[in-house]
Amino acid sequence: MSSPVSTLTITRPDDWHLHLRDGAELASVLGYTARAFARAIVMPNLRPPVTTVKQAARYRDRIRAALPAGMSFEPLMTLYLTDTTSPAEIDRAAASGFVAGVKLYPAGATTHSDAGVTSLARCAAAFERMEERDVVLQVHGEATGDDVDPYDRESVFIERELAPLVARHPGLRVVLEHVTTRAGVEFVRAGAGKVAATITPQHLLYNRGAMFRGGLRPHLYCLPILKRERDREALVAAAIAGDPRFFLGTDSAPHERYAKETACGCAGVFSAPAALELYARAFEEAGRLDRLESFSSFNGADFYRLPRNQGRVTLERRAWTVPESLPFGAGEIVPMCAGETLAWQLRDAGGAP
Ligand code: DOR
Ligand code: ZN
Repeated sequence: MSSPVSTLTITRPDDWHLHLRDGAELASVLGYTARAFARAIVMPNLRPPVTTVKQAARYRDRIRAALPAGMSFEPLMTLYLTDTTSPAEIDRAAASGFVAGVKLYPAGATTHSDAGVTSLARCAAAFERMEERDVVLQVHGEATGDDVDPYDRESVFIERELAPLVARHPGLRVVLEHVTTRAGVEFVRAGAGKVAATITPQHLLYNRGAMFRGGLRPHLYCLPILKRERDREALVAAAIAGDPRFFLGTDSAPHERYAKETACGCAGVFSAPAALELYARAFEEAGRLDRLESFSSFNGADFYRLPRNQGRVTLERRAWTVPESLPFGAGEIVPMCAGETLAWQLRDAGGAP
């Protein structure tokens, strides 16, 4: 029997969906992403949200200023779509050279989404201009309202909102962010419009049972919530298929420990400290480590029409234990798989993209 490979060198990857927060929190988490990823799409759900190109430019400056010395990393900015986003703002985004897309949060769907879109009809002019100017729409694809079961929110959103939107705008490039269901995978595969999807490490590695194993596991609570095993299997199949429409987006979403371990905890899994290693684990479990590179380093860049990175990163088969907690602003944060041993470890990266 041949022994398993002990190193894996791939083109430096990008993270196509990331929350970096701001201020001291930003400074605490940025290095984890920059060590592995050359670029990341930075989500705009700050308080207040990043709704204009001017605000995005200032946020980008703060991110660059927070980058640890010696690291290179390019933040790709997004605007937070609201009921009142104007076509002129879309024009400014298209002309900016640093805004990579516009993010649609249905109002009330998730963390800091109260300023989100109350009805897609209100954004008709913005969508039209995005289609014309070829600005990517990134979608948090969950229906809202207490009448919709949390496990059905993605499929209901696709049926009621996303499918009609894509039919109205066949030229609009859309990313169904953090796809979590078989229905979502099938929708992307069906090929309506120009729809791609990002997949998180937690949705590849866990089903909803993991949230309740031996007790309640708040650090695995995210939105969209972890789904059934058959959904996870569909996500893994999509990720390893070599289909260019599926790519890496961690949705790493840091919240301080106290905000997760409480009676009404925040949604978000902080995967950045071990992100690439966790994807390697998922691909290895599926027997397709050879497909990790296209998923992590090619497909997203090609979809966003950005050059693939030149640099390389190396993963080594070397057991290591994810820290139980890490500093986060003035407090602490619990990373995904805290205290667990992972088989793959990234050799110190952080070099040139
Ligand atoms: O779990 C999540 N956390 N899902 C989101 O959509 C937002 C994110 C956050 O910002 O914390
Ligand atoms: Zn997110």
